[in-house]
Amino acid sequence: MKLKKRKEQVSKNNRSIVLVTGGAGFIGSHIVDLLIQNNYEVVIVDDLSSGREENINQKARFYKLNITDQKALIEVFKQERPDYVCHEAAQISVSFSVRDPLFDAQTNILGSLNLLQCCLLNHQVKGVIFASSGGTIYGEPEHFPITENYPFRPQSPYGISKVAVEHYLDFYQKNYHLPYVALRYGNVYGPRQDPYGEAGVIAIFIEKMLKGEIPTINGDGEYIRDYVYVEDVAQANLLALKNMVKLSKVVREVEKTKEKEKGKAETETKTEAENKTTPGPGPEIEIKLNGFNLGTGRGISVNEIFSLLKEIIKFPHPAHYGPPRAGDLRKNVLDCRLIKEVLGWQPQFDFSAGLEETVRWFKENIH
Ligand SMILES: NC(=O)c1ccc[n+]([C@@H]2O[C@H](COP(=O)([O-])OP(=O)(O)OC[C@H]3O[C@@H](n4cnc5c(N)ncnc54)[C@H](O)[C@@H]3O)[C@@H](O)[C@H]2O)c1
Repeated sequence: MKLKKRKEQVSKNNRSIVLVTGGAGFIGSHIVDLLIQNNYEVVIVDDLSSGREENINQKARFYKLNITDQKALIEVFKQERPDYVCHEAAQISVSFSVRDPLFDAQTNILGSLNLLQCCLLNHQVKGVIFASSGGTIYGEPEHFPITENYPFRPQSPYGISKVAVEHYLDFYQKNYHLPYVALRYGNVYGPRQDPYGEAGVIAIFIEKMLKGEIPTINGDGEYIRDYVYVEDVAQANLLALKNMVKLSKVVREVEKTKEKEKGKAETETKTEAENKTTPGPGPEIEIKLNGFNLGTGRGISVNEIFSLLKEIIKFPHPAHYGPPRAGDLRKNVLDCRLIKEVLGWQPQFDFSAGLEETVRWFKENIH
């Protein structure tokens, strides 16, 4: 009954359907809002483990379920037949992943695999956008900003799970022609971020400072991150979705060309070996067109955040300094030229504008 109703609805509206996992969460809910503004039909799958009901856009259809629940997820796919999937649902705490790698893998790896299997169900899904993590997959490189061809060196089970899913996505693309884009987010901030977790320094500081409490800066406050505003992240998801089909054709062409070149190189190497000549130059560094860093290319320290917030909020006190947090990487700044070149994305919010928007939202919403 319901399926028939959906088909009629689609043919009447002729709109693409996007399934957003984690659509009740911080980033997912902004993606949902933007998709709805852009006339997509949106289906949310979220177990509300950290997401909130008040984040759920009333125009979306909502299924409260865990992405690891195979049967229930299959039913949603059969029912809704999504055209695209934005995969945001995850266990998001790095330190929790260290304490409980098994739980992290169950949600972040097995849940993602479950989702990918569902995408193959009716051969209708045109592409998957995956929330990867530019802050954890590269480890602590020697050079900044970090480009996409820097090797994966995750230092935590959370980072490992993001890398694993990127590899699985590659596998599904190559073997089942399921297109994908992995967006490797920097440190995302903005309205609706949870101020009570252990990550999300901006939300934590704003919430405390608005209450007149003094926040604690861990270590010397010179820990540098690439902060990107949540609405810019939602825009990147929209652009990736709009360009998915075009991009997957380019990726396939590149792969075909590579295959041909590999074949040619093998024949040439054979001939060279037979003729005993010296080999040519080594392989070129590979840039994948499915994985994009998503940040600003600008590093900001915790000290800078505090002093900017101090100004915006007119906070009279200096910060407290506490011991450094074990395992915190010193620096992460992402090179974001590739996504600008390929998808035409660049951040629209500079850092202070984003901070002001965030403070305004917290003033209105946190009591
Ligand atoms: N916030 C950041 O700075 C950042 C940086 C890099 C990557 N990411 C990634 O972006 C995505 C969104 O993160 P966020 O900051 O919005 O976090 P969030 O916790 O606000 O959102 C995650 C959402 O997923 C839901 N969820 C969790 N486990 C689930 C499960 N098993 N089944 C169904 N739903 C489940 C939660 O209820 C929540 O609504 C995550 O994949 C995260 O790893 C976030």
